[in-house]
Amino acid sequence: MSTAKYRSIFTASTAQQRKENFDDYWIFTQQHGGELLEEEKDLLKKRAKLEFFQNNPVKLRTPLANTDAFYRNYITMVDDPKSLDRKTLMLTGIYKFARHEWVGIKGAWAVAPSMADSRTLQDKISRVHLAEEFCHVRLFEEMLRTCGLDEVEWLPLSPWKEKVYEFFPKIPAFLLNAPAFVTELMGVTFYSHLHHLFDDVLADEPEVRDRLQALLDEITIDEAAHVGQRRNFIGATGIKISKWLVKPFYTMFFNDIPEIGLLFDLQQMMKDGENFDFNELPTHIVERSWIPSYCKV
Ligand SMILES: [Fe+2]
Ligand SMILES: [Fe+2]
Repeated sequence: MSTAKYRSIFTASTAQQRKENFDDYWIFTQQHGGELLEEEKDLLKKRAKLEFFQNNPVKLRTPLANTDAFYRNYITMVDDPKSLDRKTLMLTGIYKFARHEWVGIKGAWAVAPSMADSRTLQDKISRVHLAEEFCHVRLFEEMLRTCGLDEVEWLPLSPWKEKVYEFFPKIPAFLLNAPAFVTELMGVTFYSHLHHLFDDVLADEPEVRDRLQALLDEITIDEAAHVGQRRNFIGATGIKISKWLVKPFYTMFFNDIPEIGLLFDLQQMMKDGENFDFNELPTHIVERSWIPSYCKV
């Protein structure tokens, strides 16, 4: 007999269930992040969490041997990536993933209605969601600082990629929902694999390993909730399309980051995306996150 607590994220749902789940998510997200600070693109409780980490820093026992290698390759890989040590490769890979996130949310924040202009519950949910994503970029920056990298800049992508990200949020909702959901799913998959990578690459740096995992947990809790929330925008046909999009999306996105293929098992990540059901997430993540009612057994 299966003891699984949760069903596949691609499980069918009715329009009525999704309406009720939006109401439930809205209650969750307000208490989870605290007050929205619209001007600062921030949330009160999340800011306090970040400040706790900043006020209680940990440091590498052995500083990075070659920070020049990081700064030379973090925007664009110029060296042969196989020539870099795994710590540097992991850190440039984290930056590149976070940079895509930052570019994507910058474009979306500019076109999405502010909280004051939000007319629907979905608008409000999406505004808070975007503010959470800005918090993630700050948490990623704190990971890099913890490793002694405090001169990281957040730079735009190439002009055509910036255009793609600017165009993305202007796509009508019924077309946008499936790719937006798969993007969140890709985030949770990446963060789960990154958590394991920290165990491996930072085995000789237990304090920094624990801190980076704690910072990552804050992100993963939000992202697991985002997966359920974005899934909740999608009906019967859209959810079939979403499952079909996992492989091409993961392939396209991760192939753009040369570090990923060297550090992660992309085939396994795609399988994890297609099979995602919350059961593999650690209890301490699930307890603080949000799962749609129709994914609960
Ligand atoms: Fe995020
Ligand atoms: Fe997200």
